[in-house]
Amino acid sequence: MAKLLIYGGHIIDPVQGMDTIGDLLVKDDKIAAIGAAAVKKDTAGADIILDASGLTVCPGFIDLHCHLRQPGFEDAETIATGTLAAARGGFTTVCCMPNTQPPLDTKATVDYVRQVADSEGYVRVLPVGCITKGRKGVELVEMDELTKAGVIAFSDDGEPVASPRIMRLAMEYIRRLGLPVIDHCEDKDLSHDGVMNEGWVSARLGLKGIPAAAEEITVARDISLAALTGSRLHIAHVSTRGSVELIRHAKKKGIPITTEVTPHHLLLTEERVMGTDPDDHLSFYDTSAKVNPPLRTRDDISALIRGIKDGTIDAIATDHAPHTLVDKLCEFNIAAFGISGLETAFGCLMSLVHREEIDLTTLISLLTWRPAKVVGTRYGELGTLKPGCPADVTIFDPNREWVVDSRTFASKGKNTPFEGQLLRGKVMATISRGKIVYCDEVLKVRTK
Ligand code: DOR
Repeated sequence: MAKLLIYGGHIIDPVQGMDTIGDLLVKDDKIAAIGAAAVKKDTAGADIILDASGLTVCPGFIDLHCHLRQPGFEDAETIATGTLAAARGGFTTVCCMPNTQPPLDTKATVDYVRQVADSEGYVRVLPVGCITKGRKGVELVEMDELTKAGVIAFSDDGEPVASPRIMRLAMEYIRRLGLPVIDHCEDKDLSHDGVMNEGWVSARLGLKGIPAAAEEITVARDISLAALTGSRLHIAHVSTRGSVELIRHAKKKGIPITTEVTPHHLLLTEERVMGTDPDDHLSFYDTSAKVNPPLRTRDDISALIRGIKDGTIDAIATDHAPHTLVDKLCEFNIAAFGISGLETAFGCLMSLVHREEIDLTTLISLLTWRPAKVVGTRYGELGTLKPGCPADVTIFDPNREWVVDSRTFASKGKNTPFEGQLLRGKVMATISRGKIVYCDEVLKVRTK
């Protein structure tokens, strides 16, 4: 039996109401004991001892929304590189979106992802299956079969189901399976060829805009359909004030809805498309800030923060969307949408804590037990350090400073709008299913 002792850390586990200095003992792939006294007697027996003094120890982060690109786009990311990026970012579970090639619309493709994740993945990979075959919005996938193959939700991410009739049908099936429908809410007819938020910046740059209404129309439609069918609905990467208000209202009415927000929508505004210095015209049309949904306005950000504070927003998800250099180093209009986000998420989010916009326990909740509720318990009770639960642990230094350098990313996707930024807050070690999958070199680790 392999034993790992993490001692002297500041343990925060919101599920257990724990916020204390103490130790954590892991045996094989499970949490064995937690707290001050419980672990001390085991010190002599541990195979690996990790000194966490001065560091925070919390449940492993769960990312409800990322793109691992395999199968089909291995030049942009693989399950191996994407899950190593996850480990470096403190994530012990990632839910991967089905917009691969082929898409995850059959048992065979879901089996393939799980097989590769088991043999090459650094952290737990939970696949999200397509709603419709080929993500074409016409014919439903074999939902029973995909559920048996292990998907934790259904989504046509990036190509939202346009027909309300097909979406209704999908929700009726999925309700019986107890899983959530995850929707990337975008009325494609309205967003049309838009490439950034519709507003003064898009006007100034001469770029076609995507209005907030393109998202909100679909959020409103989906809420009505969830009310009609009783299906669980999870709204992906919410980005506008109007969406937050719709979701808040739906929750009050008891509609089974949850939602997530990304770090970039919490931290960056549409101005970022003009580069980091709005007076430097040469940096305009920065494709690293091209993402869908687009970066919005300061007003939207304050609504998102309020949504976090009052519990309307359930989770923070990265929407990690790695792309090749070729797909980003081109004209803004033809560049791919997406930000490589797994490795910068935590450092970026800590700036909200340091600025006292949200507190640390809230941040940890949004990264752990609250997304775990969306995933369900099929893969064990995730998002907590309770004894007997899977040993998924993240250890971080809330004050350690570091500079984002995409050349050091494990991810193949170097597309980050945070390049060169000084961040305060760094993941120091990640333990997935009892194994240390990432450890910063400054951490003191002793082995028997
Ligand atoms: O920015 C995005 N990138 N938004 C999406 O909806 C898809 C994603 C991707 O797959 O690159």
